[in-house]
Amino acid sequence: MKIAVFASGTGSNFSAILESIHSKKIINVEVVLLVSDRPEALAVQKARDDRIPVFTFFAKDYPNKQAYELEILDELTQRKVDFIVLAGYMRLLGNVLLRVYDRKIINVHPSLLPAFAGKDAIGQALDYGVKVTGVTVHYVDEGMDTGLIIAQQAVTIDSDETRETLIEKIQEQEHRLLPEVIQRLANREEAR
Ligand code: GRF
Repeated sequence: MKIAVFASGTGSNFSAILESIHSKKIINVEVVLLVSDRPEALAVQKARDDRIPVFTFFAKDYPNKQAYELEILDELTQRKVDFIVLAGYMRLLGNVLLRVYDRKIINVHPSLLPAFAGKDAIGQALDYGVKVTGVTVHYVDEGMDTGLIIAQQAVTIDSDETRETLIEKIQEQEHRLLPEVIQRLANREEAR
């Protein structure tokens, strides 16, 4: 299964996917493209270091979402991408990609959805004072973190928890759960 990863930031989930492939924790999965709306993102650097093709763009250079998504779609088609993984991609997807990749786009979110959707889910959980939060991998639709849930992992918030320690605990689970789900989806594609 050929996948494209979309990332706007650090790309630790992107690295976790690559590491899982290198160490053969996941098989029959190939990352053929990294897409980023932030050319200076660390994720882009990581892709270059790993010689993974990169497509970057500035949304403000285009009249609308449809225009830049058509360019992304062209890249995806050329590289025969089967599946899209959003890993810290900070934009809502539009109809161009959602129609062509219907049920073939997943996202990882740092909370137990539907709780704490949107930005800074970890801060939202800490502010609310919940004792359990977690990680969700879900299909992507036009909403913000609203698509069908595929897998979740709970993470407890201890009384002495800080933002830093919680980020660490959540990331550890993201880096395990996301590659696991990708493998499940690849197995399903194989069986088709
Ligand atoms: C992750 O916490 C993910 O759940 C959220 O954005 C963050 C991306 O982190 N959607 P990274 O760039 O993969 O390190």
